[in-house]
Amino acid sequence: MQFQTVEPSYTSKDGCRLVWKGVDEDDIDVVILNKNELERLVEIFKKNSMGEVELEDQSSYIRVNSDVTQFTLTNHRLLEAKTSEIQEQVLEYAKVPHEPQYVHIATKEFYPSVWIRDDEKQSKDVKTNPKQSLIQAILSSEPEKIRQDLLPTDLFRVFATRRSTRKFEKTKVEDWKVDKILSAADVAPTAGNFQGFQVFLIKNEKTKEALVEAANKQPYVNAPVVLVFCMDPSRVKLKFPPQILEKFSLQDATIAASFSLLAASGVGLSTIWIGMFDEEKVKTILGTDLRPSSILCIGYTDKKKPPKSRRKLKELIKVIE
Ligand SMILES: Cc1cc2nc3c(=O)[nH]c(=O)nc-3n(C[C@H](O)[C@H](O)[C@H](O)COP(=O)(O)O)c2cc1C
Repeated sequence: MQFQTVEPSYTSKDGCRLVWKGVDEDDIDVVILNKNELERLVEIFKKNSMGEVELEDQSSYIRVNSDVTQFTLTNHRLLEAKTSEIQEQVLEYAKVPHEPQYVHIATKEFYPSVWIRDDEKQSKDVKTNPKQSLIQAILSSEPEKIRQDLLPTDLFRVFATRRSTRKFEKTKVEDWKVDKILSAADVAPTAGNFQGFQVFLIKNEKTKEALVEAANKQPYVNAPVVLVFCMDPSRVKLKFPPQILEKFSLQDATIAASFSLLAASGVGLSTIWIGMFDEEKVKTILGTDLRPSSILCIGYTDKKKPPKSRRKLKELIKVIE
């Protein structure tokens, strides 16, 4: 793995992403730094000194030595960069203010978005403690702080307890949770794997207010985390009529939003799915030609309500024998 570039972050406008590339085109590693982590690294580089930066998960860290800078990441291989190279790039990057970015999820973010399983450790854990379930074994190799938040992440528990909210606390949603939510959208199935959708992560307050207006004045659209899922049929390179590609991209965007919704519930957040909005107004606000399919508003709720009831299963399911 060779260190390549510093790119703008999408979870923190003052943070950054450090990108490594391997031999294959899609062999990419990315380390996401939030504002504080980047500032601390810049401080060390400016002084031409050595030092350590602890990362948000509290168990990964960056060690700056005179020749090599090492990234010791939990559950991930060690990443290295020549200190002179990374120093130059990071200092250059930090000179220029970076505007909040809309996100186009394209590459995989391995840290901290996707946790890399340590199979050896996992099988050892399961062998030494046969009563421990696989999911417990997987969770037990997460850093303590993240593990605690992920414990209730059993998918069926999430299904059974999820409830929409229209009242969010002002509490900031942690960057690593936003990353999990975005990476869930990234791994959703899509037609032909062409990922015919785009996600806009709205961080700008004025943009959020404009979206409230475009969404029939629904005030909760101004939530701590706002994602707009848009259809991008031009990405779907399949030989079908345009209306089919349109349908595929609507489905791609909708499944991705559902994955994000479930991921948000899994990390202890609440959501409200917004389908009622003026498409043209949203397009103008985002400055895009892509049709929005849904807005997902996410944050903490103080009032955990029980799930709503549904119709009887026998009414929902018609069995064809
Ligand atoms: C396609 C779709 C569109 C929706 N649009 C809105 C909306 O514009 N405003 C809103 O307050 N809720 C909206 N919702 C949320 C639903 O009202 C909510 O999911 C439903 O009442 C079931 O409640 P639950 O999610 O707590 O189970 C929408 C949900 C879906 C799936």
